[in-house]
Amino acid sequence: KPLTGQESFVEATWKFIRNPVEGFGPLTYRQPIVTAKTMGQTLHIISDPVGMTDVLVRHADKFTKTAIDARILGPATKEGLLSVHGEQWKRQRKSVAPMFRKRHMADLAPLMTEAIAGFTERLGHRPNLDLSTAMAELTFDVLAKALLGDPKGLDRERLKVATRAVVTGAGTLRPDDLLPWPRWVPRPMTPNGSRALRRLKRAADDLIAERTVHPTDDLVGLLIDADNLSQRERRDNLIGFFIAGHETTALTLTWALYLLGRDRPTLERVRAEVLEICGLKSVEYEQLDQLIFTRAVIDETMRLYPPAPILNREPQEPVEILGRTLRPGDAVLLNNYVMHRTERLWTDPLLFDPDRFLRDPLLSKKGAPYMPFGAGPRICVGAAFAIMESMMVLATLARDFDIIVADDVYPRPLMTVTLRPEGGVPARLERVVQ
Ligand code: HEM
Repeated sequence: KPLTGQESFVEATWKFIRNPVEGFGPLTYRQPIVTAKTMGQTLHIISDPVGMTDVLVRHADKFTKTAIDARILGPATKEGLLSVHGEQWKRQRKSVAPMFRKRHMADLAPLMTEAIAGFTERLGHRPNLDLSTAMAELTFDVLAKALLGDPKGLDRERLKVATRAVVTGAGTLRPDDLLPWPRWVPRPMTPNGSRALRRLKRAADDLIAERTVHPTDDLVGLLIDADNLSQRERRDNLIGFFIAGHETTALTLTWALYLLGRDRPTLERVRAEVLEICGLKSVEYEQLDQLIFTRAVIDETMRLYPPAPILNREPQEPVEILGRTLRPGDAVLLNNYVMHRTERLWTDPLLFDPDRFLRDPLLSKKGAPYMPFGAGPRICVGAAFAIMESMMVLATLARDFDIIVADDVYPRPLMTVTLRPEGGVPARLERVVQ
């Protein structure tokens, strides 16, 4: 239940810690910016496109990602693009961005098709599944193939176990990290998490060492060839791509399949579109631009369930945002989840209505109240990859499978850095005979 505004401060804070996207409920839905003081520190929650754009674009150079981000991501990818700042970030972004250009994306499509085909073949034997686990496995496979190709001697299982453990299990990903605890309070990883992280670092080091000997043109080959990156930066970026790229996309697909499972006519519209454009063959990269409704389903899914629901920033100097002065030491939470769901900015915000993206083309333009990939210079570097993968998977699964979700399955979106369905999404995927 959202907060009514009548709760005591302790109740409100507790709720916020348990699930930050629900916390400070109605107020954040009603006001573009809410300022609160907790434990002596000032916290600004922004859920408005003007405020978000001011922070992420107009005054981007006056904000850094926070100690909170460093604590969550730091142990795994301290020297990677996700975590670094200033000149180091600029240099890395310049080296890494070309890897995700359109031209490379087109080359990756066949690898994605292969991973998707492997997945649907395996599905034949186990139509009952938890969508979130199944999608995490699939997006891991896709990413591993795209990033690494299929090098000889690659211990994929070892890499997968270590990555999944770091992403899902590690104590690094605790929601209470969002509260502005004093900086000296340590947030150690669980022993299990840190063991997994050590393994992941070793696996990434081995992979890069092996590739230096046998260069290839998959994404890791490009990473190794990239100018100006140290050995450590290469490793932390490789790990960063796995961490940033696999669960976020998996969650987009999980929520999309869940929504389609609940909405038969929309599933059938996606199916009809895919059959018309792609027939029964595998979905090709060149066809993606024509799958307009499928894309709208992905957009609408990320509106209701943004995989990165809250972004964090910290001002480096006093900055005026939405009439308030944000000061160094304040915590700034950019709440995508609330911005995407507030009646201030949307009609029938809780309705799953992909057509809204077709009716209003401005929704996918700059400044719209829709920023699942962030905005400005630090906008997601892997967005094109994520959209392409989500579309290829969703198009294939919606065409080839009925998605059956039991009526009493209503997973609550729970923020643990990413936005996961609490308890997973039990479902059946039944192959349709075309
Ligand atoms: C940054 C979301 C997929 C790599 C970001 C940011 C968001 C985001 C919101 C900005 C964070 C901030 O400003 O604080 C998503 C979503 C995805 C997705 C919703 C899937 C649906 C991917 C993929 C990759 C990736 C597939 C790579 C393979 C990165 C990296 C950054 C980033 C490296 C840091 C960029 C920088 O700071 O310059 N992502 N992401 N992401 N993402 Fe993604």
